Amino acid sequence: MISLPDPIYSTRCGKAYLGDALELMAGLPADSIDLVVTSPPFALQRKKEYGNHDQEVYVDWLLGFTQEIKRILKPSGSFVIDLGGAYQKGRPIRSLYNYRVLIRLCDEQGWNLAEEFFWFNPAKLPSPIEWVNKRKIRAKDAVNTVWWLSKIDNPKANITNVLAPYSDRMKRLLTNSEKYYTPKKRPSGHDISGRFGEDKGGAIPSNLLQIPNTESNSQYLRFCKIVGSRGHPARFPQKLPEFFINFLTDLGDTVLDIFAGSNTTGATAEALCRQWMAFELDQRYLAESAFRFLPDANEDAVISLYNQLCTKGARNIRLAQVSQPRLFDEPSDYCVQDNE
Ligand SMILES: C[S@@+](CC[C@H](N)C(=O)[O-])C[C@H]1O[C@@H](n2cnc3c(N)ncnc32)[C@H](O)[C@@H]1O
Repeated sequence: MISLPDPIYSTRCGKAYLGDALELMAGLPADSIDLVVTSPPFALQRKKEYGNHDQEVYVDWLLGFTQEIKRILKPSGSFVIDLGGAYQKGRPIRSLYNYRVLIRLCDEQGWNLAEEFFWFNPAKLPSPIEWVNKRKIRAKDAVNTVWWLSKIDNPKANITNVLAPYSDRMKRLLTNSEKYYTPKKRPSGHDISGRFGEDKGGAIPSNLLQIPNTESNSQYLRFCKIVGSRGHPARFPQKLPEFFINFLTDLGDTVLDIFAGSNTTGATAEALCRQWMAFELDQRYLAESAFRFLPDANEDAVISLYNQLCTKGARNIRLAQVSQPRLFDEPSDYCVQDNE
């Protein structure tokens, strides 16, 4: 039995709840969620540098949430957590906190690491300034670790749902495989047969997801501007949850983001016809997140909805006019792979 307070707002496929994710998760039955995709608050990241003590406290804090995620996740479900890297305080030495999170999740809570992913954001600005820009002794940090965890060895997954576009070289080969490719055994022992030249609709993506985080003219940001906000400061790009939702769930499955922020995950799930739930502690972030689900609206309507969502005790606001969010104007291109 679900025992949650009323959501602040709901859409055709999902509900957004205000509150502490730990308390809200307690209202969900065991084994009920297909996928949890989330990016925790970077208490550490905000400072950019951490001491060892801060890191330990942070990891302990985070593990309180992941224990509860394990309870509510279906056995076939997946838990995907995006963690940015960080430096140790005052030193050009990396923090190991994201690896400690992973090891403790597996050693102490019994999660399986189904696969480690790396989200490469080519648009990331150089940081930390001291080591990268001023002293020029470190490279730009542009990769987040994304741990895909599961309760069982074979969680639901279908990589053919997230095929990447073929490289130009592979496209040439597909047009005339006899000319461009001779089946042979590789030095690695891989026996590349003639079937390699068949068009399978795309290339198997690698675990390096190249996704620029460059949202600048979305409806979400335009409506945020109307209410005097610059939007959530730590959003991930829609293509990140999109990849994992397509890869790890079926239509109608339930996706949860426990640290929803601007509810990128919920809006992505809505567009992909999955049920979704979003938990968020900050009412303003949640109020702004509703902008992702509005059809085109005029300024007055945006301000009125925002004020409604920001009032104390706001609940059950149905975004009835909601249209399918238009997230995917461009074809998916999580990564480009030379499919040799
Ligand atoms: C890194 S942001 C998530 C951003 C999100 N992925 C997006 O694309 O907008 C983490 C969010 O977790 C929220 N948060 C922090 N502690 C929380 C808690 N105990 N329960 C629910 N949300 C929490 C913060 O307010 C913040 O908005």
